[in-house]
Amino acid sequence: MSAVLRRPEFVMLPMLGEDVPAVMEVETAAYPFPWTEGIFRDCLRVGYCCWLLTREEAVVGYGVMSVAAGECHILNLCVHPSLRGQGQGRVMLRCLIGIGRNHNADTAFLEVRASNRSALRLYEAEGFCEVGIRRGYYPAAEGREDAVIMARSL
Ligand SMILES: CC(C)(COP(=O)(O)OP(=O)(O)OC[C@H]1O[C@@H](n2cnc3c(N)ncnc32)[C@H](O)[C@@H]1OP(=O)(O)O)[C@@H](O)C(=O)NCCC(=O)NCCS
Repeated sequence: MSAVLRRPEFVMLPMLGEDVPAVMEVETAAYPFPWTEGIFRDCLRVGYCCWLLTREEAVVGYGVMSVAAGECHILNLCVHPSLRGQGQGRVMLRCLIGIGRNHNADTAFLEVRASNRSALRLYEAEGFCEVGIRRGYYPAAEGREDAVIMARSL
């Protein structure tokens, strides 16, 4: 009898410049007001922690985080709309938090649209608490939308 090695379905890999076009495909599918390609390239250039979620070598999600002065800031966390609800957002969030700890950060921060119920629930379930509101922080279909600022200790 031969052993069958099953490849893990989802794999996290460091994001490289060459991945940005594939990242943009997910970004534009996911957000009504997506980041530009230039923003992702700037994040890579300044050395932010940029990780891909891949499945069979295709980019299906990503997380971007800055770490400095004992704090990490989760700037983007995204799973392709067709693959949500399978636990991958949580996996990536935990991965980013682990990276923050490895960089000796003691607090993680993020901002999320006040209407983004799935992300709010994920962050709350992972120990983030609301610490403030930025009024009118995000563009919205009609005017602007508040950002909820959340934090958790690491
Ligand atoms: C937020 C996001 C990353 C979550 O990714 P995901 O892979 O679908 O999430 P998971 O399957 O890991 O779910 C983790 C938890 O999130 C919450 N959640 C996820 N989808 C939800 C939904 N549709 N409704 C309510 N809560 C939801 C739940 O608490 C869930 O835990 P549970 O399954 O134990 O109930 C994903 O919805 C996404 O990419 N959204 C668009 C981009 C975005 O808004 N990112 C956040 C920017 S701050």
